[in-house]
Amino acid sequence: MFIPPVPTLHRQGNGVVILDQTALPWQCVERRLATLAAAAEAIASMRVRGAPLIGVTAAHGIALALVSDAPDDAALDHALAVLRATRPTAVSLAWALARMEKRLRPLPIAARREAAWAEATAILAEDAATCEAIGAHGLALLRALPERTGRPLRVMTHCNAGWLATTGAGTALAPIYAARDAGIAVEVYVSETRPRNQGLLTAWELATVSIDHILIADNAAGLLLARGEVDAVIVGADRIAANGDTVNKVGTCLKALAARASGTPFYVAAPVSTVDADAASGEAIPIEERAAEEVLAITGLNDDSFPRRVRLAPESTRTANPAFDLTPAALVSGFITEHGVIAASRLNELPQGAGT
Ligand code: MRU
Repeated sequence: MFIPPVPTLHRQGNGVVILDQTALPWQCVERRLATLAAAAEAIASMRVRGAPLIGVTAAHGIALALVSDAPDDAALDHALAVLRATRPTAVSLAWALARMEKRLRPLPIAARREAAWAEATAILAEDAATCEAIGAHGLALLRALPERTGRPLRVMTHCNAGWLATTGAGTALAPIYAARDAGIAVEVYVSETRPRNQGLLTAWELATVSIDHILIADNAAGLLLARGEVDAVIVGADRIAANGDTVNKVGTCLKALAARASGTPFYVAAPVSTVDADAASGEAIPIEERAAEEVLAITGLNDDSFPRRVRLAPESTRTANPAFDLTPAALVSGFITEHGVIAASRLNELPQGAGT
């Protein structure tokens, strides 16, 4: 079983400790959350990020809320509303909150506090097990790719869908960890993922577990795919519509198009809780629009190795900053889930998804 080098979230008494991802990849900083407000802030400001980890954090946010407030219906409703409003796109958030509500609402008030911790802990443990299963199914796919001569298996990914985005081995990166453990020589093309540069988190993450990787500018992906230098693209997902349309980090769709044009398989790795049965197609999925500042400025280390924010464009420049994009189901070669690799047309046969 893959054990993350640093836990992304763990319980500590009546609080939780997170790895603060806003400090990465420059500093490894843990932060204790003790209140509902702190959990909500951690999700909204992307101290925790990645769909599965957002869900796990939201579940723990409910437990935190019930520690400080009387665990009555009003407190539960308030906590659900506060957490639901943090980020709109990743359906794992709504899925985890619905699961917490279903477990807690019918219980007598006196039993809710302990039950909230127990359910949040179960969600965390299941997430890690799900990642493991995704890794095993993805490994079978990687083994089936055509033999290469003289070079390692090369997988391209986008954004961060690894151990930093979950409580286990990740989603898109889980098959890569499984391949390495199976003795397959593998290297990963990592696109930087402007504007929030989650690709830098992926590079940092892969470095922590000694996986060979090559950081590329987002715009380099098309050329590398066209040259046949990539054996497969694997990305995560924030929400998958019932027809297989996939919403993932902005830039994913361009990779899917380039993969299709070059004949490279393009896989989406995600737990079935990412499938939103209520969204018939991708058009129904809300795309988060984030602050202009993310496009206008960038953070990096200065010559003295201190993180510094610098402005890239005039303050008055207009921006658009959609955080996710929509990849049509037709461009996806298969969905790597904990239940196996399936086609878009069979997503509705999966045992459980989000939605009503
Ligand atoms: O905005 P973020 O960093 O929360 O984005 C989520 C992601 O990490 C990705 O979109 C990812 O590819 C899917 S979630 C494992």
